[in-house]
Amino acid sequence: MPGAVIVHHHNRYKTYPGEVTGFVFYSCLVASVGGCIFGYDIGMAASLTSTESFLLLFFPDIYQQQRDQVITNQYCKFDSQELSLFGSSLFLSAATASLFASPMARAFGRKWTLFYAAVAYIIGACMGGIATTFTMLITGRLLLGVGVGLCIHASPLYLSEMAPAQQRGMLNILFQLMITIGILSASLTNYWTSRFLGGWGWRVGLGMGAVPGSVIALGSLAIPDTPISLLSRGETELARATLSQIRGIGPDDVRQEFDDLAAACEESKAVANPWWELLFTGKYKPQLTFALGVPFFQQLTGINVIMFYAPVLFKTVGFRNDASLMSSVITGLVNVFSTFVAVVTADRVGRRALFLQGGTQMIISQILVGTFIGLQFGLSGTGAISEQYAMCIVLFVCVYVAGFAWSWGPMGWLIPSEVYPLAVRSQAQSITVAVNMCFTAFIGQVFLTLLCHLRFGLFYFFGAWLLLMTIFIAVLLPETKCVPLEEVSHVFRKHWFWRKYVVDTSAEARGAEMRKRIALEMS
Ligand code: BGC
Repeated sequence: MPGAVIVHHHNRYKTYPGEVTGFVFYSCLVASVGGCIFGYDIGMAASLTSTESFLLLFFPDIYQQQRDQVITNQYCKFDSQELSLFGSSLFLSAATASLFASPMARAFGRKWTLFYAAVAYIIGACMGGIATTFTMLITGRLLLGVGVGLCIHASPLYLSEMAPAQQRGMLNILFQLMITIGILSASLTNYWTSRFLGGWGWRVGLGMGAVPGSVIALGSLAIPDTPISLLSRGETELARATLSQIRGIGPDDVRQEFDDLAAACEESKAVANPWWELLFTGKYKPQLTFALGVPFFQQLTGINVIMFYAPVLFKTVGFRNDASLMSSVITGLVNVFSTFVAVVTADRVGRRALFLQGGTQMIISQILVGTFIGLQFGLSGTGAISEQYAMCIVLFVCVYVAGFAWSWGPMGWLIPSEVYPLAVRSQAQSITVAVNMCFTAFIGQVFLTLLCHLRFGLFYFFGAWLLLMTIFIAVLLPETKCVPLEEVSHVFRKHWFWRKYVVDTSAEARGAEMRKRIALEMS
C-alpha cells in the first residue's frame, strides 16, 4: 500500500513506505558515472602501456628494450619502475584528494563534491590528450586523480544515502557496474584507435575521458543532494521535500523515515571531532576494521594485475599485440556482465553469500592460472606457451574476473559505504578510498617486479591472500542486506564477536544509561 505510513518489520528491521522512483534511479545513475571515470582510467593505463607510439614518445628506453628483446626471461620482459609509476601516479593523487573530499562533502554536500571532481577530471583529460612532454602527461594524470579521488568518495555515499534500504545493494552496485563499463570503454577505445588512427590514437583515448566527465558535471547540476546530507547542513525543509520526492510519496508519508534521519543527524552532531572519534576513541572498532580491511583486501585479490596488465600478461603468454588488446576486451565484457549478477542478487542472497562464493571461485582460478603458466614457462621463464594452454589461461582469467565482479568488486564499495554511522561516515569513506587507491598504486607498482621474481608463484601468492580474506569475511562480517542505513550499527551489536566492542551511542541508549544512573543514585 504505497503512500501509507506503515513501519513494519521485515527481517527484524524497519522498512519505510515508498518505491524506487524514476527520479531516484535517474539521480543514482548520474552519481554512479563517478565510477565510470575511475574505470576508464584503469583501462586506459592498461592499454597505453602496451601502445607502441605512446611508449616511443614518453618511454623510449622501454620501447627500445621491448624491440630488441634483450631480455630472454619471459617473466621479466616488461619490468620497468618508470612505466609502473606512470600507472600509479593517478591513484596516489586520488588517495590524497580523497582526504580533502571529507571536509568538502561536509561543507558543500555530496552533489557539489561530484561537480568539482568532474571539472578537475575534464581538465586532466584534455591535458593528457594534448600532452607533448612527460611533465604535461603527468600533470594531466594527477588532475585526473583529483577528479577520481573526489568522485569515488562521493558516489558510493550518495548512492547508499539515496536508496531505500531494500534496494540499497542494487543501487549502490550501479557504481561498480559503471567502473566496469569504464574499463571496457577504455579497452574498446584503445582497440579501435590503435587500429584505425595509428600513431596518435592514444590521444583520442585520453581526451575521450572528458565525455563521462562532462556527464557528471552537467548531470550533477540536475540532481538533488541526499536528504541526510541536506539535514546535516541545516536544510531541514529541503531535506523533507527531497525525501518525499525521491520516495514518490507525500511529506506526511515519509515522516517516519525523516524522523529517523533527523535522529541520526542529531546523534552525529553530538560528535565534535569525527576524525578523533573514529581513530582514537575505540568506539568504531568494527567499522574501522572494515574501512581499512575491505579496500586493502580488495586490492590483494590481485584484480588489478588483470585490469592493468591483461595486455602485457597476454603478450607474455604469447599473444600478438592486437590479440592482447582483444583479450582485454573479452575480460572487460566478462567483468561488466558478471556485475549484473551482483546487481540482481545482493539484496536477495545477501552480501556474505556473494563474498564467500566469489572468493572461492577466485582462489581456484588463481591456482589454475599459476599452474598453467608454471607448467609451460617453467621456473626460468624461457619456455613457450602452446595455444591450448594460452586459451586455458584466458578462460580461467575470465572465471576469476567473473568471481571478482560479483563479490569483492561491488562489495568492496558497498560494505564500507553502509556500515558507518553518519557521524563518521565521510571520514571513514576517505580512509576507505585512500587505502584502496594506495594499494591500487602499490600493486600497479610492484606487479611487474613481483612477476619477475615470484614468477608463476605470483598467482599462488594472491590465491593465499584470497583464502585469508574469505575467512575474514566468513568470521567477521555481519549481514547488512535490507538493514536501514542508520540502523546498521545495531547489527554489529548483535554479532558474536563485535558485540564486545560496540558502544551504543544512540539517543535511546544514552537515555537508558541516564535512567539507570539516576535510579542508582536515588537508591
Ligand atoms: C576496484 C578496481 C578494479 C575494478 C575492476 C573495482 O571495484 O576498486 O580496483 O579495477 O573493480 O572491475
